[in-house]
Amino acid sequence: MTGAEISAVHPGAHAHPLDNAVPISGRQAPPCTVVIFGAAGDLTQRKLVPALYNLAHQRLVAASGFAVLGFARREYTDAQFREYLGAELKGHVGSNFEPGIWNWLSGRTHYVSGNFDDTAAYERLARALADAEREHGTKGNVLFYLATAPEFFAVVARRLRECGLLDESDGRWRRVVVEKPFGRDLNSARELNAALGKVLSESQTYRIDHYLGKETVQNLMVFRFANGIFEPTWNRRYIDHVQITVAETLGVEKRGGYYDKAGALRDMVPNHIFQLISLVAMEPPISFQADAVRDEQAKVLRALQPFSPEDVLTKTVRGQYGAGQIGTKLLADYRAEPNVEPESSTETFVAMKLAIDNWRWSDVPFYLRVGKALSRRVTEISIHFRRPPMMLFRDTEVHKLSRNVLVIRIQPDEGIALKFGAKVPGATLRLGSVDMDFSYADHFGANPATGYERLLYDGMLGDQTLFQRADMVEASWAVVNPVLDVWAALPPRNFPNYHAGTGGPRDADLLLERDGRAWRDNLK
Ligand code: BG6
Repeated sequence: MTGAEISAVHPGAHAHPLDNAVPISGRQAPPCTVVIFGAAGDLTQRKLVPALYNLAHQRLVAASGFAVLGFARREYTDAQFREYLGAELKGHVGSNFEPGIWNWLSGRTHYVSGNFDDTAAYERLARALADAEREHGTKGNVLFYLATAPEFFAVVARRLRECGLLDESDGRWRRVVVEKPFGRDLNSARELNAALGKVLSESQTYRIDHYLGKETVQNLMVFRFANGIFEPTWNRRYIDHVQITVAETLGVEKRGGYYDKAGALRDMVPNHIFQLISLVAMEPPISFQADAVRDEQAKVLRALQPFSPEDVLTKTVRGQYGAGQIGTKLLADYRAEPNVEPESSTETFVAMKLAIDNWRWSDVPFYLRVGKALSRRVTEISIHFRRPPMMLFRDTEVHKLSRNVLVIRIQPDEGIALKFGAKVPGATLRLGSVDMDFSYADHFGANPATGYERLLYDGMLGDQTLFQRADMVEASWAVVNPVLDVWAALPPRNFPNYHAGTGGPRDADLLLERDGRAWRDNLK
């Protein structure tokens, strides 16, 4: 949106298409204010406000009482904050953009500036919340979203409690969404849980993992438990192994300062990738109530075998990218990126072989790999089934039958494909591998969404199913903590060990080759 278009938006406008609106599907969230801490940051402009806009577009926020309150150190007036958000909005919501809806939403968007540790700022926030309640009918309900640097999570929660802003009396609710990273190892995650636990109940705490906002990730449960034909084969009897690939083509871009201290393991594995594993591996929950689902996920996380120091050497691989080319784009060494140490031993690639020690998955390895600056952007889970018990076709031209593989594509090009063997037409018996392929976009049409819509909506509804519980976060860190320790004690000597634009370090291939297996060729 241009500055001129912005000024055409009448900030005080209340009458609007959303008044008397009926949601396209589902029910409208209850009245509330969404308060975003760290509102001047990237996430707010690129994801959170576009997601709130998309919810308004689908009539899923309360037409009768909704407001957004930005809180950050930067000095903004309400008008400047609205302009800052509006400037990028159209680019993020695509074909959903309708000036009338932005007009409605921006008219209920306000800003409070202040330091996260300053009581006076929270007093201003309390006044702004009271104003929002009066002006916009938010009924005193508040979803606080901590999109700040992680060192402020506990500080903000404590201040909110001290200033009485977490008080849920008179039937109103107060909830706190906590962004990642949730700790940087097991101890710090425990400390953060304990600090939050002093001022918030678990039912007020919403630890977000944006992977759970992705359609295909949510579809995993539907796919497994709403269909009768897959579950009987979903176990060690029929499945040989599982692969998870989360590959990005981007380097660290402007995030060197954060990333160089975190690394690929902390950044992606105990959170996003373990969420994927828990949904693939969990037992059917007794209901879709939040805790019934999360209990089953937690059991999987607790059954993931922690690595012994020896396992770290044989079952994990780390890598760091050196200069290379991705498509037409040239990438410099990771170590040459802004805010990265010139001798950095931070990994930008991880591969691992994980074991789930339970009845269903015993002896079924879960291989994962995740990395930056790889040849292609692809996030997918593939389930590799066992070969048929007898090689009837041994003497045909194809002497090795390929396995059946179920591929769950999370991004881009969301969908599900099943690979199976078929006879190649002709007089001789030749086998080929073919796909049954379902594509989300072809079937349901494009869905312009940021991935945060469902999570924000669930936060407003008070549904914690897609949010992580304290015990889940700690169980995840417990698995990777030994790896962090061994890696810290033994700095890598061969970094950089893969070129940008390739499929990662050779050792990642060896991890599977040693077991007589190979990665799917999705990074070729
Ligand atoms: C974030 C990580 O949590 O997830 C980033 O901090 C990563 O490093 C991103 O790029 C990947 O998310 P997505 O949705 O693009 O797969």
